[in-house]
Amino acid sequence: MAFADFQNEIYVAGLLGTQPSLPMSFAGWEERAQQALPPSVWSYVSSAAGDERTQRANVAAFERWGLVPRMFVGAADRDMSIDLLGMRLPSPVFMAPVGVIGLCTQDGHGDLATARAAARTGVPMIASTLSVDPMEQVAAEFGDTPGFFQLYTPTDRDLAASLVNRAEKAGFKGIVVTLDTWITGWRPRELNTGNFPQLRGHCLANYTCDPVFLAGLDRSPEQDPRAVALRWAQVFGNPLTWNDLPWLRSLTDLPLIVKGICHPDDARRAIDNGVDAIYCSNHGGRQANGGQPALDALCEVAAAADGLPVLFDSGIRGGSDIIKALALGATAVGIGRPYAYGAALAGADGIVHVLRSLLAEADLLMAVDGYPTLADLTPAALRPVR
Ligand code: FNR
Repeated sequence: MAFADFQNEIYVAGLLGTQPSLPMSFAGWEERAQQALPPSVWSYVSSAAGDERTQRANVAAFERWGLVPRMFVGAADRDMSIDLLGMRLPSPVFMAPVGVIGLCTQDGHGDLATARAAARTGVPMIASTLSVDPMEQVAAEFGDTPGFFQLYTPTDRDLAASLVNRAEKAGFKGIVVTLDTWITGWRPRELNTGNFPQLRGHCLANYTCDPVFLAGLDRSPEQDPRAVALRWAQVFGNPLTWNDLPWLRSLTDLPLIVKGICHPDDARRAIDNGVDAIYCSNHGGRQANGGQPALDALCEVAAAADGLPVLFDSGIRGGSDIIKALALGATAVGIGRPYAYGAALAGADGIVHVLRSLLAEADLLMAVDGYPTLADLTPAALRPVR
């Protein structure tokens, strides 16, 4: 079934008198998520660093590019599947790691909901280090869809090794090391309410069931929950340097992907040191405010990657954004906040709805504009919007 068929399903249901229970675009998901989520979770998910201009710039950057329609192409059959690190995926889309996704569903198990949505859609989940349910339980829900584990590298190297070993054993197919968040960016909306979920003990399951982490505690997490958060704060963020990359590489034979790369020199050096893929992202503007939109970094980073896969996120809000990121050099495109809002609306069903909507729109653009394969989406397919 083509992704575009989602719209036929909706129109046919409409003929039979049933309208979709969930909104059909980002603005609707965002509005309804704000109503559905507790204020502290809404604020944590929707906010960004500083005056949040980089979050807005990430989104606005897509408006500066337009896909040129081509006619007489007859793009009746489209192929959106990709090869990524030896895996065949039905679409070039994945779910970016979102710590606290666990808190976004009504049942408080959003990591499991995300994994189930991955199983149902074939859209891989990158599971965050920060989760309500341990990675082993998350991975058990993936079905046939490959999953990736995102590592926030702790200062304790043994703990890092333990997390990666567990991810391997749990069946994850790659390790994504996030480089831009060894320290938290300045987030006034969160600072206004003194709200930081992990310090309140949320989303630490991967730590509280880890033997190395537990060995660093005097008493069990149940006996002393505050000590867990304190210990977590001590070990969470490792300000990595290039000297650490060989060690990171040595931790696993799984594909190693580095997230947060926005400069071509960083991409080249990471590749020279053995990483398998580059993940271009500015963390949705949550870390450094005032910088360039991630999309503006993509072309150069993709060129520097020299054929290695390039994952991209930051600012994807609709199907046309997916298409533009692919045209500018992304191998696969990450959805962030939109699926978190889907989780807030209807758990796994809400995430599936968001993913199907984004994919249907992207597929229909390829049909309408005459780009039947992903290989047709190159920078030459885009023009600046004046
Ligand atoms: C994130 N992101 C993130 N990244 C990561 O590597 N590990 C993590 O645990 C998290 N946690 C997280 C929480 C929340 C609430 C958000 C919104 C984002 C960043 C994420 O992977 C991705 O880079 C951004 O979400 C992309 O930006 P947009 O498209 O969501 O604006």
